[in-house]
Amino acid sequence: MYSEKVMDHFSNPRNMGEIEEASGVGTVGNAKCGDIMRMYLDIDENGVIQDCKFKTFGCGAAIATSSMATELVKGKTVEQALAVTNKAVMEALDGLPPVKVHCSLLAEEAIHAALWDYAQKNHIEIEGLQKPKSDIHEGEEEPEEEY
Ligand code: FES
Repeated sequence: MYSEKVMDHFSNPRNMGEIEEASGVGTVGNAKCGDIMRMYLDIDENGVIQDCKFKTFGCGAAIATSSMATELVKGKTVEQALAVTNKAVMEALDGLPPVKVHCSLLAEEAIHAALWDYAQKNHIEIEGLQKPKSDIHEGEEEPEEEY
C-alpha cells in the first residue's frame, strides 16, 4: 500500500525536532483526523532556507510527508520553497494512497504557515504566499485542489 520511500521516511524520519529561535514557525492541523504538524525554518539574510525541522503528531503518512518536505525545502529560497506543493512531496515519495493525500496537504500548509510567520516577523511580502488556513480538512474530498 505504501511505497518504499514512504516507509523509509516514516521509519527513519529526517529533520525531526525543533529549531530554537527559528526564522519562521508554522503549525497546522487537520480537524477531521486531529493530526497536527509544526514546521521550523531557519532562513538566512539572503532568503535561503538553511535548516528545516518538523514535529508531527499524526499518522505515518503525515510523518513521511513532513520528513520529505523538510528535505525538499532545505537549501531553497523562500520563493522556491513555495513551489514545494503537496504534489511535489507526494511525487518525491513515489505516491500516496488516495485516502492519504490530505496528509501531504498538511505538509504543504505547514511550510506555508512557517513562511508566513517569517514574512510577518520581517515585514516582507512573499509573492504568491497567502495567509495560511489552520484547518485543511477539505483535502480528502478534493485531492486535486491546489493550495
Ligand atoms: Fe491525519 Fe494523515 S490521517 S494527517
